Amino acid sequence: MAAGIFPKVADMSISEGKERLPAISGLLRDRHGDLLQRDTTAIHYSEVTFKAIRDILFEREGFDLDSYKDKCIQRRISFRLRTSGCKNTEEYIELLNKKEEEVKKLLNALTINVTEFFRNQSTFDKLKDIVFPDIFAAKGGSGTVRIWSAGCASGEEPYTIAIILKEFFSEELKRFNIEITATDVDEGILKKAAEGHYKRDKLVGMVPGLMVRYFKEDGDKYRLSNDIKKMVSFRKEDIFQERLHREKDLIICRNLLIYFSRVKQEWVLNEFWKALNPGGFLILGRAEILVGESRKLFSSICPRERIYRK
Ligand SMILES: C[S@@+](CC[C@H](N)C(=O)[O-])C[C@H]1O[C@@H](n2cnc3c(N)ncnc32)[C@H](O)[C@@H]1O
Repeated sequence: MAAGIFPKVADMSISEGKERLPAISGLLRDRHGDLLQRDTTAIHYSEVTFKAIRDILFEREGFDLDSYKDKCIQRRISFRLRTSGCKNTEEYIELLNKKEEEVKKLLNALTINVTEFFRNQSTFDKLKDIVFPDIFAAKGGSGTVRIWSAGCASGEEPYTIAIILKEFFSEELKRFNIEITATDVDEGILKKAAEGHYKRDKLVGMVPGLMVRYFKEDGDKYRLSNDIKKMVSFRKEDIFQERLHREKDLIICRNLLIYFSRVKQEWVLNEFWKALNPGGFLILGRAEILVGESRKLFSSICPRERIYRK
């Protein structure tokens, strides 16, 4: 199918296509990024301080700071420290010990949830034109197709996959059982994902036809149709926790590995390989690549879209 199958029409309204949406996607991204990037000067942390914060996050949220790149972590902790009005790291640790809410806010700052429907559209074009036809063909006439969206944030990515399946593979949906499992470490964002209510700026990558079919305007938000919602099951899961995934046909994990140290990236990629069926597909984010041993485990299918195959 032509690349234009998902043309960006960010300036169309959902309801009638009359009202024009302002070009706000860049703005939103800036606003999100800005919040974190504005704070480019990380405060210096002693090892003891860092360990104290790491222990609080691990004990209260099961979140392991050690897996993440130092600079990125330090900047984000600095951002929370300043925003919460603390003067130094000691004060901030005290606040974390006293206020459960601040631990959640810190976790939220550390786990950047930026995402949108049809993010990097050509990836979804390839999914539709190459990946899904291949998966269905390889399985013969029927069976179960297992998809895992890891680091799914507020759900736009797995829901985009569900919309593609519904829209372009209706025949296959009658014959195949589709399981889309979407996981994230951030419980708060998963609640939003399960609700399926989105502000308009999250839908800028969507063609009006799809918007009309799969969303209903509701105040200042858009409700995703139940048909799509029920195709995806969300689950809180740390990517580093014990392996729960097996026999996947497709793993999509975009814009998550980028935050991890190289050693951890390699570990996760190896785990993805184990979780995939032979011939299964792996999709990474545009800024992510295979590292270390994993380069020998996968072959590259669409280099630009970072689509690989076991
Ligand atoms: C930038 S978002 C990516 C969303 C989506 N995949 C995309 O590319 O549009 C990264 C997500 O990874 C999640 N995350 C961070 N660390 C994680 C971990 N250790 N295990 C699982 N999810 C994690 C964050 O909570 C966040 O929602």
